[in-house]
Amino acid sequence: MKATITGHKSFTISRIDDRLYGAFLEHLGRAIYSGIYEPDHPTADENGMRGDVIDLVRELNVPVVRYPGGNFVSAYNWEDGIGPKEERPVRLDLAWHTSESNAVGIHEFADWCDAVGTEMMLAVNLGSRGLDAARNFVEYVNHPGGSYWSDLRKKNGREAPWNVKLWCLGNEMDGPWQIGHKDADEYGKLAAETAKAIRAFDKSLELVVCGSSHSFMPTYPQWEATVLEHTYDVVDYISLHMYFANREKDTASYLALSHRLDEYIGTVKGVIEFVKAKKRSDKNVYISFDEWNVWYHSNQQDRAILDGNDGWPHAPALLEDVYNFEDVLQVGLILNTFIRRSDVVKIGCIAQLVNVIAPIMTEKGGPAWRQTIYYPYYYASVYGRGTALDLRVDSPSYDVDKFGDVPYLDASAVHDPDAGTVTLFVVNRHPSEAIDISARLDGFDDLKVIEHKIMTHDDLEATNTGGNMDNVKPRDGTGAAVASGVLNVSAPPYSYQMIRLG
Ligand code: AHR
Repeated sequence: MKATITGHKSFTISRIDDRLYGAFLEHLGRAIYSGIYEPDHPTADENGMRGDVIDLVRELNVPVVRYPGGNFVSAYNWEDGIGPKEERPVRLDLAWHTSESNAVGIHEFADWCDAVGTEMMLAVNLGSRGLDAARNFVEYVNHPGGSYWSDLRKKNGREAPWNVKLWCLGNEMDGPWQIGHKDADEYGKLAAETAKAIRAFDKSLELVVCGSSHSFMPTYPQWEATVLEHTYDVVDYISLHMYFANREKDTASYLALSHRLDEYIGTVKGVIEFVKAKKRSDKNVYISFDEWNVWYHSNQQDRAILDGNDGWPHAPALLEDVYNFEDVLQVGLILNTFIRRSDVVKIGCIAQLVNVIAPIMTEKGGPAWRQTIYYPYYYASVYGRGTALDLRVDSPSYDVDKFGDVPYLDASAVHDPDAGTVTLFVVNRHPSEAIDISARLDGFDDLKVIEHKIMTHDDLEATNTGGNMDNVKPRDGTGAAVASGVLNVSAPPYSYQMIRLG
């Protein structure tokens, strides 16, 4: 089977915001406790943070991490996580039916972000709380000093403000499961007033208002229209979430889900433009896709934990999806979609980062390792910085119920002018046939293959575990070469590839 890719240096989609490759950490399961924080772990640093996890996160070059939730944030008192640890209250977390020790709060998280070299993206509680708690939190985090909350921060050991730029106005407020769930008008008004208060403190802050939790939500996409009508002038991004699942064991349909993602982004882009036009506004609002990932492998196990859970356990093993090779393809497809939509999707957060539906897994007291999906996320985050090229991809396709024609070949390309590279990310959705790709990229001088990585596996269900950490991992690709300005490369059946030209 043959396919062609055509691109030109000047045919671009957008400069990609580095924050497209962000991540998310919630006080949920073992994401924080025995994920990033484990004072007794042999690799723990002076703050009790696992050094092995810090190393893996550093390797991913994560630009921003959203915190502290998620559903958790909608009943969270941020003040519980400051001051001497021994005085911090244990609270019942109503979102996940667990207890929260508050051993990690904003100070510990901020120190961890410094250690891994990332920025914070903080969410305020607009579920059980509101404007007042939000404005106090922003003052605590960002004000230099001379006020009640900023002086309290100093007293608690942090002299300089953290100057966090990105703030989320609640989480998934369209979801009936959310503590303090609201309808679109109620939430839109609250978000607008909270945004005004935060902007009165500092108008340079970037604010994210909640869009839909999924495109299956009954309120989608009217939710986006109503919420933006209330908030358009005072926010910068609308957040979207989407999780992917292959419950029917139907790989062809599963790998077509990125089309639903693409439609979802396209629809919300349209809603943003509708509200912008209605308001006769010159301002742009973009999408923050601040929760996305595969999530279904752990569903049964979670049900059992939650159903059998009469008490309020601390950091139980919730949402611990063990990813397989098929998910590598899915994550590659999702990231390609974001790159192609980088004109409107400016922020993305893989949900989550450690243990909870995450690319990194840990064992309490034991090792940390890379799940299968670590790799496509790694390649996109490390090599997907720059300008997205507007490729024309001509590929044979297959027909999937609900999605229509789905091309076997999925590709995106990023030009990094500083590094002088063009990086292609390529997924072959075909179960049994290789695709011979001819990629003509014009406008670049004398490109050569400088790095080529490939992931294939004869078992779609192959996983990486603590006992077999490298079962699924990339290897060097072979046979990719540029001749007369055309890259020729073969994509084996069910494969993910990253090809860097320079
Ligand atoms: O990431 C897990 C959960 O998924 C988050 O808490 C919530 O925002 C979403 O429903």
